[in-house]
Amino acid sequence: MNRRHFLQFLGVSSVLSSIPGCSTSPFSFYSPELPGLSPSLLDQVQTASGIDYKILIRWGDKINAKESFGFNNDFIALQPLEKNRALLWVNHEYVSPTFINGPERTKKNIDRELKEVGGSIVEIKNLNNSWEVVPNSPYNRRLDANTKIPFAWNEKIAGKDFGVGTMGNCAGGKTPWGTFLTCEENYEIFWGDKTRSGEKTESWLGWDKIYPRSPEQYGWVVEVEPKTGKAKKLISLGRCAHECAAVTKAKNGKVVAYTGDDKINEHLYKFISDSTDSLERGKLYVANLEKGQWLSLDINDQPILKNKFKTQTEIQIYAREAAKLVGATPLDRPEDIEFDPLTGNVFVALTNNKQNKNYHGSILKIVEDNNDPASLTFKQEVFLTGGKEHGFACPDNMVFDPQGNLWFTTDMAGGEMNKGPYEGLGNNSLFVFMRKGAHQGKVMRVASAPVDAEFTGPCFSPDYKTLFLSVQHPGETSPSIDKLTSTWPDGTIPKSSVITLTGPLLEKIVQGKL
Ligand code: FEO
Ligand code: CA
Ligand code: CA
Repeated sequence: MNRRHFLQFLGVSSVLSSIPGCSTSPFSFYSPELPGLSPSLLDQVQTASGIDYKILIRWGDKINAKESFGFNNDFIALQPLEKNRALLWVNHEYVSPTFINGPERTKKNIDRELKEVGGSIVEIKNLNNSWEVVPNSPYNRRLDANTKIPFAWNEKIAGKDFGVGTMGNCAGGKTPWGTFLTCEENYEIFWGDKTRSGEKTESWLGWDKIYPRSPEQYGWVVEVEPKTGKAKKLISLGRCAHECAAVTKAKNGKVVAYTGDDKINEHLYKFISDSTDSLERGKLYVANLEKGQWLSLDINDQPILKNKFKTQTEIQIYAREAAKLVGATPLDRPEDIEFDPLTGNVFVALTNNKQNKNYHGSILKIVEDNNDPASLTFKQEVFLTGGKEHGFACPDNMVFDPQGNLWFTTDMAGGEMNKGPYEGLGNNSLFVFMRKGAHQGKVMRVASAPVDAEFTGPCFSPDYKTLFLSVQHPGETSPSIDKLTSTWPDGTIPKSSVITLTGPLLEKIVQGKL
């Protein structure tokens, strides 16, 4: 059981659907003269000269008397507190049973796994430009697959007004009012799924055999208060394999959230809130890239939806089906979404689509008309393409620095790295696309991940002197704990960990002085 197998199970692979009107960026080239790393296959975190890394927290570390840091850390978000302190949210996406209690699908093993997913909140403090976890902080807490979370909606979902647990938490976002958003992506690996006509699909992890739960409880964006851990599921943003939720403000001050459905040939959504400080009420749209239009998914706007669905709630639950009915464009696994600080444009990582023979992925740029996130029309183009000539493949999570440099991680599947279309590209890595100066338009490899791992969740500290980064699923293709493909970081069973990157090269880049 590993990520590659479950991706195959999901039918997730890699291809950019042909989008009329797409043009390729003329200026993105890998640059060997930059002080970056060459591709590496070593079972190490390697960093470019002038950048150091340190482990902040790893799987299994105690965060308080009763709770531990979960498995497969992913998205990271930071909410500053007073002085040099902050609260860190970290997603725990899924489990590899082999490394926990073993692959047997017993109640005991599954009970343990339920506690390994969801998210962690940990207080951190900065001493001399070095961030550390505050042990036993009253803010330290876990959300997991047993946490009761209410649905923020005016009707029940699957007969209930709350869901039990959050899992599949992949990427996320932050709201202007300082709450965290954590996104439930591949929920069906835990619980299976159910079509609108009631047909059930099997789960991969078999949790549903021990604890039958309605899959409609999952696949939502979850909003979490940093200080209390109080959470709610935002039905308003629709249900799918949400990778992330990127929030900005429209010209009229109302909030707008973009979210991608990371499954082959699925869609890009946008939610325009009725409010300046809430994501609970508003209208959900889906992108048609050929027409450059955001198409409403409101039952009262679309006769075809009124004809096929009974209620708006049903549309929210089966958003994928509704999206196809109104003419949404199929995409090549839309993953992370970020806003360019220089222009406000919306950047979307399209990881790959092997069905269309798009193995290397790309980054899409969306320019909203009138530069207004509330606009219902837009232009789009390919900003950057993956491939051997650019030195990277399968862009996934992204973050901009204040100079507009785009830092991004890659997600080639564990068993496929450095083979076939990925030959010569080494392990998954962190890259930066240089926006200004002598290296403008060039891509540099900043850090290289251990065997089978991907970097996820890049997140800057408020002073931009530290980049928090998840090292996720090292050694994931190990057939057993006796045959490990990675022993990072301790020389024993591999452990996903959050690391911090610091150093003069990082500071030079974020100050635009390289
Ligand atoms: Fe969990 Fe789409 O990566
Ligand atoms: Ca991801
Ligand atoms: Ca990924």
